[in-house]
Amino acid sequence: MNGMDKDGMKKRIAVLASGRGSNFQAVIDAIRDGRVPAACVRLLTDNPQAYAIERARAAAIPVTIVDYAAFPSREAYERELLFAMQGCRADLFVLAGYMRIVGNEIVRAFSGRIINIHPALLPSFPGLHGQRQAFLHGVKISGCTVHFVDESLDGGPVIVQKCIPLLEGDDEETLAARILEQEHRCLPEAIRLFCEDRLVIEGRRVRIR
Ligand code: GAR
Repeated sequence: MNGMDKDGMKKRIAVLASGRGSNFQAVIDAIRDGRVPAACVRLLTDNPQAYAIERARAAAIPVTIVDYAAFPSREAYERELLFAMQGCRADLFVLAGYMRIVGNEIVRAFSGRIINIHPALLPSFPGLHGQRQAFLHGVKISGCTVHFVDESLDGGPVIVQKCIPLLEGDDEETLAARILEQEHRCLPEAIRLFCEDRLVIEGRRVRIR
């Protein structure tokens, strides 16, 4: 329950991010402030221009760039990413704004050890632009979800969710901003629970013990 493995070491987490990296920053800050008992051992990115890389450098976190555009096929990219992930020796991989579908081979290699943050209340509005999908659909409540990654698209067992009501006068940007604020709380919370060995996957459910 104390976030340490049997050798008394902190859990090792690696983060995958494709862009701005504000969720990655929330994780860095939570670890630094002692709210998450983990060591962030690496940032992996598919995008050499990702601002997340600057955030990693500022926090002295090693970076591996697996540039999607440099590979002849998705399969070749995934093979290299799998190799890079294996090299992390991470207990947990955190998809924090990683904008690609994770291939089945990777999901199977790290079963129960990959989590993702999604900007909608899953199973509604999976895939890209969850905030936009919710706004255009006209729902009254949306939110964010942290879930385990399985072979489905954003369909794995849910760890944490937060609701955000849509307000009169909201547009896609104001809604996305309020969702993002909650994402920055949810993601560190889910990582903390994982690192404290408190998450038990029971079929579709995650029990928090
Ligand atoms: C976040 O809103 C995250 O939930 C979303 O991308 C944004 C990344 O922002 N992820 C997805 O849509 C994954 N399908 P960030 O780079 O500032 O963390």
